[in-house]
Formats: sequence, C-alpha cells, structure tokens
Amino acid sequence: MIPESFIEEVLSRTDIVQVIGRYVKLQHKGSNWMACCPFHKEKTPSFAVNPSKQFFKCFGCGEHGTAITFLMKFKGLSFPEAIKELADDLGMEVPEDRMAKARQAKAKTLTDYLAQAADFYHQTLFHDRHAIEYLKGRGITEETANKFHLGLSPDGWQGLEAIFKDKAYDDPKLEESGLVIAKDGHRYDRFRSRIMYPIRNPRGQVIGFGARTMVPGEEPKYLNSPETPVYHKSQELYGLYEARDAIHKKGRAIVCEGYMDVIQMSQGGFLETVAALGTSITPEHVKKLFQLSDHVYFSFDGDAAGFKAARRAMESTLSIITDTQTAHFVLLPQDEDPDSLIKGQGPEAFEAQLRASFPLSKFFVMDIVREVSNGQGLRTAEERAQAVAIAKPLLQRMNAQALRQLLVQEFSAAVRMDPVELAALCGVTLLNVPQTKKASAQTSGYGRDAAQGARYKRPVRPVTTGPVFTNIKRRLLQCLVAHPAWLLKYSDQIEYELLDAVDDWEEAIVRLWHLAQDHSKGEGFDADKLTTGYLLSFVQDEPIYERLADLASEEEVLQTPEGVAEYEVKCAFLKLEKAQLDARISELLTHEEQGDAVDAQYLERLFKRRQDIHRSLVDESSQAVDFVMDSRLSG
Ligand code: UTP
Ligand code: MN
Repeated sequence: MIPESFIEEVLSRTDIVQVIGRYVKLQHKGSNWMACCPFHKEKTPSFAVNPSKQFFKCFGCGEHGTAITFLMKFKGLSFPEAIKELADDLGMEVPEDRMAKARQAKAKTLTDYLAQAADFYHQTLFHDRHAIEYLKGRGITEETANKFHLGLSPDGWQGLEAIFKDKAYDDPKLEESGLVIAKDGHRYDRFRSRIMYPIRNPRGQVIGFGARTMVPGEEPKYLNSPETPVYHKSQELYGLYEARDAIHKKGRAIVCEGYMDVIQMSQGGFLETVAALGTSITPEHVKKLFQLSDHVYFSFDGDAAGFKAARRAMESTLSIITDTQTAHFVLLPQDEDPDSLIKGQGPEAFEAQLRASFPLSKFFVMDIVREVSNGQGLRTAEERAQAVAIAKPLLQRMNAQALRQLLVQEFSAAVRMDPVELAALCGVTLLNVPQTKKASAQTSGYGRDAAQGARYKRPVRPVTTGPVFTNIKRRLLQCLVAHPAWLLKYSDQIEYELLDAVDDWEEAIVRLWHLAQDHSKGEGFDADKLTTGYLLSFVQDEPIYERLADLASEEEVLQTPEGVAEYEVKCAFLKLEKAQLDARISELLTHEEQGDAVDAQYLERLFKRRQDIHRSLVDESSQAVDFVMDSRLSG
C-alpha cells in the first residue's frame, strides 16, 4: 500500500502536459495542447490536453481522463504502477514498508535471472538445427521468433550452468525463479530440451516461461513456470507486452487459448492477440484487457474444453464489463485452433470468425441453454426454471446496468417469462422500476428547526427525484466536476441541500465535496491545485470514476463559459431548495387544514424565503444573459 499522503503529493506535483508529452508530441494551441490521438488512427490532431483542468480528451474517439488514466490506458499499468511512474518522473521515491522494499529487491534479481535465461535460450535456438526445423515446420519465421524471443532450453541436466557459473547456479534465488529445481540435494534445470516461450509482463520484463516438447505425444506437452513472486498466472497474459500498441491502434483485443495461437495470429496480422497462460480467464485478466480497449474478442477451440473455458471467460467478463464496453465470443469449428485455422485457410478465415462471433448478450443465452438442454432448446418448464437458476448468480454479479437490462430481456424471451418477473426472480432491478434510496431511514423534522433560523430540514420523502431533478443534478455534478473550486465556494448549499443524499447524483456530489473539504484542510492548501484531474485521481479505481470522467469529458465538448456554468450551479441549488420548501409548505398547510396547531411565524418565513428564491432566480437569469452578451461581444 502506498500511503495516501504520498499519492496526494505526487498528484499535486504532477503536470498532465509533461506526463503525456513524454509519449505524444504535443503542440500548444490556445489553452490546450493538441496532438494526433494515441488511442485511435487519425491524420489531424483532435487529442487535447488541458493544463488548467489537468484533463485530457480526444474529440475524435472520445477517450478521456486524468494523467493516471492516460498511463493506465496507454501503458496498461495498474493504479499503483501509474503512481509509481509519476513519482519516478518527479524524482520521488515511493515510501514503502521494509517488506515491500525487500520484495522489490528480490523481484529485481528474479527478473534479472529470468532475462539472462531467456537470452541464453534464444541464442541456443539458433545453434540447433532440429529446433529451427521444428519451428519452420510450424510455419514460424525468423522475424517472429525474434519478436517473441523464442528459445531452446539445452539438453543437459545443468544447462544453465553455462551462464550461472560457479556458485551462481547454487543461488536459492535461481530456484525461486522457477528455473532450477532442488531435490534430494541435487539441483537441475526445470526446462530441458524444449522450445521456450518467455512470458513478459506489461513492462517487458521476463517473468516466466512456457516450454513445449518437440517430441510428438510426450507428456506434459507444455511445462510452465511455477507461481513465483514475479509470476502470477491469474493476472498475466501471454503476449500482452508485444500486443499493447496494436490493441490501442486497432481498438480491440483478441484472446486465444495457446502460446502458438498468439504467435501465429501475430504473424498473420492479428498483432492485437494475447492468451491466458494455461488457466481460465480471470476477472483480473478481463480488467487488464478492458483497461487497454473497450472491445474484447475471446476465441475458443471448438471442443468441450473450449466451451468450458468460454463459460469461465464469460463469468469473469460479467463482473467487470461496463455499459460502454463489448465482449465477443468466437467458437471455432471442431478440432481447429487459431494456429491451425490461419495456417490452413489464411488470416481471412479468422477474420470471418470474428465477424460471426457472438456478442456477450447472445452468448449468455446460448451457453446457458446449451448447458441445460444439450443444444436441444428449452423444452419443459423444468428446463426453463433450471436455466433461470443458472442465470441468476451471473446477472447478480454484473455492474453494467444497461447491459444487464438487455441481458434480462434477451433471456426472458428464451425462458418465456416476463422481463420484470424474471428480474425480480433473479434479484436484480430493472431500471424503469422506481427506486428510492434511504427514503425511510430519516426521521420527521417537521417544524422542529423553526428556532434555528432560516434553514429548513428536508421533508421525510425525497421531493427532488424524477427526470427533471435528475437532469438538474446531473448538470450540477458536471459543473462541479469541471470547476472543483465551486465545491468549496458553494459548500453551504451542498451541506444543506444534498448531505443526506437521496440518489446516486447527490451521493456523487457529496463524495466530491468531502474530497475537496479534506484537501482544503491540508497544509499549504492551494486552490489552484483543485483541478478536475487532480480530484478525479482520488476516485480513479472506484466505480464512480467512469461517470465523473464522462461528465468532465462531455463538458469539455460543451465548453460552457465559466459565468454561464456558475449561473447554472446557482440556479440548481435554488431549484433544489425551492422544491424542499414547497413540500414543507404544503405539509404545514395540510396540518393546518386538519386542525393541528402550526407555527404561523415559521410558515410566514417559509413563504418569504420562497419569494426570495423566486426573485434570485430571475436576477440570476438576467445576469447570465448579460454575461453571455458580454462574452459574445468580447470574444
Ligand atoms: P493446447 O493443447 O491447445 O496446445 O493447449 P496448443 O496451444 O495448441 O499448442 P500446440 O499448437 O500443440 O503447440 C492450449 C494451452 O494450454 C496450456 C498452454 O498454455 C497451451 O498453449 N497447456 C496445454 C499447458 O499449460 N500444459 C499442457 O500440457 C497443455
Ligand atoms: Mn495448437
């Protein structure tokens, strides 16, 4: 864990223009820095980096975010990795506990050892006729062998002694790296006389190997590195380092089952291909892929094992995918894998498979129906019930609301049920069903705060829900994201109108308000530091981030003049207060009608405040008109 205070310092010293400028050639234009977008192909620059907001946005493909987002998407880094890179650039050292330091030092020697071994295996390959013939026989060119740094492990028991001379071969770290096995007082190479596929992490460091026998029928066909401090199968993808740029350029990632598939695909022009490492696809894998691209294609061999693997990939995808992302499933013909398909019928054959792939929503229904009925279709009520039981936990793990709604609809047709009933059975909510959060948790505040002066507690029922207020609050949130300083300027309004949030919009505003509050209390607080990007960095790895970044990016397109945006903010607060006030007044009047005693002075104050608000709204709007006229005349 990196300490929060350190992250804060890194972020406050980071300049997004410098960070992105290291990877992309930026040109100054007006208040922005522009470049050709690194996330899609283009000839004229539409990628804008805004230093005052510390936010980037591509007006072509819509990609957007903070300096951290950029590093995560562009380089495929995790949040802590991105923080580390920012810190490195600033010459700051991440303060970690001693254990983490030791772990890092160890990791360094492990990857050093693995890199030395990879080079050695690679050299060995080119001196061995038999291995060269084997790869040639599989259609691999020398260029491809170099690109993937393919190698050959020598035949002897201690072949690695050639590079780890004298005592070095006895180093326990060599054992820990997975290269050497120690047993009954003997030490010997784990990999002997096999074709070596080095596995690299996104930073390009060798972290393990896959090793294939050249002897037909020998078991195991593949021998893999064990889990080590630097190699975690459930997280790493074979070929990701080599595929990263292509994934960016093509805007999609393809996931296959095997090492040779990745290599053959790459050679066939599908440079955006990766593979899981002899394990099923995990949510961590899916997360990594969606960090690099919004569109992921999973390809599976057309056998029973392939179906099983596809189901696992689907499960992992469901829990990670968002509404703006797509996943597709390719099921190859029986006994084919991408390697054999491309070698046999050329890259076009695989392209055709991609076109014929099943989108997640279709595959979801199809796969469950296949499981229940063996491809016969659901024939009985019992089979349909069984299908619902399988779907239920899968739907529940989803975060993508719109996609889930569509899945429910697709699935309801297959099991012949009403979508709303199906949703209820599965314990998920369809979005058009009204839902009010926390509504019943509050206690009555009628008139109690009359003595407290001009402020009024919210009524029991939330009165600011519904589409009109959703729009107001959405826009309010957007303006506050674009101008975070207003979170402090309008702090009272947020505290009084929104603090016991009744919906997601209010919750989001309150969350940002708390963040801004925390930072304003910090030592040497500088209001200029409170930029969009800075603020969003603190929620970077939370679900709320996407929504906020999307809003910021939309505002970047709208480019509302600051004065107008502030007018909208003021009006929004006034409208929220007015709605509360109206509800309070009507409650008091009902009480009065029923003969209850009502504090007349209090009621009068409510009416007066209501009138004030009305007047302020009129004032604000005439000021805004002035402002727009001014900015038109001067701009
Ligand atoms: P496959 O048996 O489909 O092999 O296993 P392949 O990739 O087509 O290999 P070639 O074409 O015969 O050379 C698919 C993947 O499962 C893992 C490997 O990652 C392999 O690429 N695997 C398979 C193992 O880890 N161990 C094994 O013994 C077999
Ligand atoms: Mn194969």
